[in-house]
Amino acid sequence: MADWIGVGTPTADRYREMAERDFRGVSPLYEHIALGVAADADLLRRLDSLPPVKRQPNLLLASVRFRGGPVDSYEDFAEFVRDRWQDVAATMLARRTQTNEPRRCTALLPALAALPQPLALLEVGASAGLCLCPDRMRYRYVDEAGAERVIGDAPVEVTCRVTGPVPLPARVPDVAWRRGIDLHPLDLGAEDDVRWLESLIWPGQDDRVALLSGAVSFFAADPPPVVAGDLTRDLVAVAGGAPEDATLVVYHSAVLAYLDETDRGRFRDQLAELRRRRTVVWLSNEAPGVAVDIAAPDGSRSFVLAQDSVPLAFASGHGDWLQWFDFSLR
Ligand SMILES: C[S@@+](CC[C@H](N)C(=O)[O-])C[C@H]1O[C@@H](n2cnc3c(N)ncnc32)[C@H](O)[C@@H]1O
Repeated sequence: MADWIGVGTPTADRYREMAERDFRGVSPLYEHIALGVAADADLLRRLDSLPPVKRQPNLLLASVRFRGGPVDSYEDFAEFVRDRWQDVAATMLARRTQTNEPRRCTALLPALAALPQPLALLEVGASAGLCLCPDRMRYRYVDEAGAERVIGDAPVEVTCRVTGPVPLPARVPDVAWRRGIDLHPLDLGAEDDVRWLESLIWPGQDDRVALLSGAVSFFAADPPPVVAGDLTRDLVAVAGGAPEDATLVVYHSAVLAYLDETDRGRFRDQLAELRRRRTVVWLSNEAPGVAVDIAAPDGSRSFVLAQDSVPLAFASGHGDWLQWFDFSLR
């Protein structure tokens, strides 16, 4: 399993690092709780009774909220975890971090729209499939001068601040076929799955909660198809359903970081096998170093968008900003 989720790191360090690196400045409540866990010998002992991959801060915090527990004071949080440990641990064991952020489509849109249309979209690690519908959203891009550009016409609106020469298209892409693959697809029509998606959003990120709620209501009526499968094994078979006369795009965001090097290699093998059969465009939107070898900008927890391993832009991990590279400067 990948180091970035800290599997090889002592649990206290994982919580302290997450507090200082990710939660600080974004979710003060989670920062406070994660620092509390890092210093709580009893909670650490309980967490260490779980498999390493299940000790993740996001998983504990979401599981407590899923069970109705408090996250506004460390004392109340810790008391809840102690009192309800069997339930909290059961949720942590049964569920996984499957945050589905439709705003990540703001990074994908310029790249998708520049390809020969129509498109056949195959998203690996699709969760509930909210990033499988880049053509069914409205985009509001705002540049550094405050000028706005709206693309598309749909009830679900995603906003994004942009810098650099981002090639914003006139319209959303034309999608002829779409399919997601996930180890455990979430069902937009299942109350528990939707509550789990809500529980994964950090407290204080009310705009993300509102976006998720709007997206779930809109897409649940005609949910994007996500099949149960493993991206290291099933890519070629699922791609077999894509129409030949569309541009096949295999893409993913916030997924490969959950795979170890062996599994990332298996995914690349699947991609290579697929490429022996037909032309494929590969878009990755992952933390720097996960899919492409590039350093993160200083102090930023950004993703890098790349097309066939060529970096195009840095993007916010949750899609709210996009910094397109200026190739004319190279
Ligand atoms: C953090 S979520 C990201 C979801 C979505 N891509 C997004 O950007 O909103 C990662 C997803 O990858 C899925 N996943 C992890 N390993 C996988 C694998 N080997 N095959 C298929 N899906 C996988 C998880 O189940 C989870 O739903």
